[in-house]
Amino acid sequence: MSATVTERDGGMAPGRHGPGTDSSAPAGGEAVTAGTADTPNPDADEHAERFIDVRGLEKTFSGDGAPVYALRGLDLTVAEGTFLGVMGQSGSGKSTFLAMLGGLSHPTAGGISVDGIDLYKLPGERLADFRREYLGFVFQSFNLVPYLTALENVTLPLAVKKMPGAEKRRRALDVLDHVGLADRAGHLPGKLSGGEQERVAIARALVNEPPLILADEPTGALDTETTVEIMDVFSGLHREGITIVMVTHNPEIQRYFDRTIVLRDGLLDCELPACDIGTPL
Ligand SMILES: Nc1ncnc2c1ncn2[C@@H]1O[C@H](COP(=O)(O)OP(=O)(O)OP(=O)(O)O)[C@@H](O)[C@H]1O
Ligand SMILES: [Mg+2]
Repeated sequence: MSATVTERDGGMAPGRHGPGTDSSAPAGGEAVTAGTADTPNPDADEHAERFIDVRGLEKTFSGDGAPVYALRGLDLTVAEGTFLGVMGQSGSGKSTFLAMLGGLSHPTAGGISVDGIDLYKLPGERLADFRREYLGFVFQSFNLVPYLTALENVTLPLAVKKMPGAEKRRRALDVLDHVGLADRAGHLPGKLSGGEQERVAIARALVNEPPLILADEPTGALDTETTVEIMDVFSGLHREGITIVMVTHNPEIQRYFDRTIVLRDGLLDCELPACDIGTPL
């Protein structure tokens, strides 16, 4: 797998990488950045240590009924390269947290920075740039397009990129190879096993070479053997330096994580192994 920062160096990176000159920077104006060409970026180590910086994060859903306080003031700092597990009982706020980390849901209060970029202070189109350049999402339900082959599914995130079709295809084949599926590139999702479909979903998340992968119960629908297979893929990505945040209910996979936090009622309850999770998650 090649380096994960090519795009960031060009258009997005404020922290360690700084604004660059790559012509592949998002079109339409200056890049998403915490620093500018005139002001030096903040200290590099500080950015690496506080790669993810969550401050007083709150999310309240208010519909017809009583408001739901999904997150009630979450504080968390995660160093770059960490494999972070997020556990907690159903309804504790895990997916809400992940969606907010992914720039998909605005907080009611508080904020999140990734690599020094204060996500919810970005204008909408810059937030979309951030998602495209920094993030890969992997979900339990795969979300593959059923009438596209594995290769075509993996190529989808490159649709907006200005690069030759042959280059897109090469990158997609590279990541499929990376997850051990080069020989299945022409298969439709329906012709693949659950583990293979999950690996296609991981390949799709990787094709933009993001520095941060967000995964919501990626092994939730898989048997034990396939879970190990998929976790080995994630472990390989972790060893390459990609930061991963993974929500899971499965205590068996906790051993893959550098850190495991437990949410309870929208708050950071504790961090394993320093806490006793007691009831099954
Ligand atoms: N769009 C929404 N509108 C209203 N309430 C919501 C919405 N999304 C989530 N909630 C509520 O917020 C709380 C946290 O939900 P969330 O999906 O983050 O939990 P979770 O920890 O991911 O649970 P699970 O383990 O079941 O996936 C729940 O009470 C849920 O019902
Ligand atoms: Mg959830």
